[in-house]
Amino acid sequence: MPNIIELKNINKIYGEKTPNPTQVIFDLNLSFEASTFNSIIGQSGSGKSTLLNILGTLDKATSGDVFINQKDTQKMSKNQVSKLRNETIGFIFQFHYLLPEFTALENVLLPYRISKKPITKEVMDRALELLEIVGLTKVKDNLAVNMSGGQQQRVAIARSLINNPKIILADEPTGNLDSDTTEQVYELLRKINETYKTTFIIITHDRHIAEKADRIIEIKDGRINLDIKK
Ligand SMILES: Nc1ncnc2c1ncn2[C@@H]1O[C@H](COP(=O)(O)OP(=O)(O)OP(=O)(O)O)[C@@H](O)[C@H]1O
Ligand SMILES: [Mg+2]
Repeated sequence: MPNIIELKNINKIYGEKTPNPTQVIFDLNLSFEASTFNSIIGQSGSGKSTLLNILGTLDKATSGDVFINQKDTQKMSKNQVSKLRNETIGFIFQFHYLLPEFTALENVLLPYRISKKPITKEVMDRALELLEIVGLTKVKDNLAVNMSGGQQQRVAIARSLINNPKIILADEPTGNLDSDTTEQVYELLRKINETYKTTFIIITHDRHIAEKADRIIEIKDGRINLDIKK
């Protein structure tokens, strides 16, 4: 399997030009094979979110290279990187950032509205299929504000998939949910991984979830402390 994401010699220093620069990622090398399901664990402040933001090209490393789908993002313009990100990566966060006064279906279609791309029948069918997969067909026309936390998170998952991304990056996607709902959301992510061969990289505090992944990476003080592949 080819590597879908590769980090080479990544360093991240916050506040580089201030009197108090802090290095939080140290010469880190890491690559992910396509279609795998990976978890990242580690103590609070160890650098997990920083790492995920660099992986997702939302933040730039101070030095080092990030390859997405074999393309060197360092050699690309800002616009080219945004385009690659929009086409390749979906994000799920702990707080789902749905628009409360929009319906579930409208929220799933939001990336199309934002990019002002037309909502064709094909796109609409995909949105409905995704809502079916996440088990929300019955409530697709409900306003987000009237849905439970777990339902809202499932809308966010469907939304992250609307562009058919090869990669999903998730930062504590179940951090906000009770253990039963966490289990359901996890099963759902696994199903998506198996159905669409989407690569998942998930930060989690939940050991139970981490242990079910194909690979567990533990970050400690900005370095890889453990890397276990099953
Ligand atoms: N914008 C920033 N400016 C300065 N320091 C930052 C910034 N963002 C994060 N840090 C610092 O970088 C370190 C790593 O933060 P990061 O958010 O990556 O940790 P984390 O492992 O995701 O923690 P948590 O589990 O609490 O979410 C922390 O010490 C944090 O204070
Ligand atoms: Mg974090």
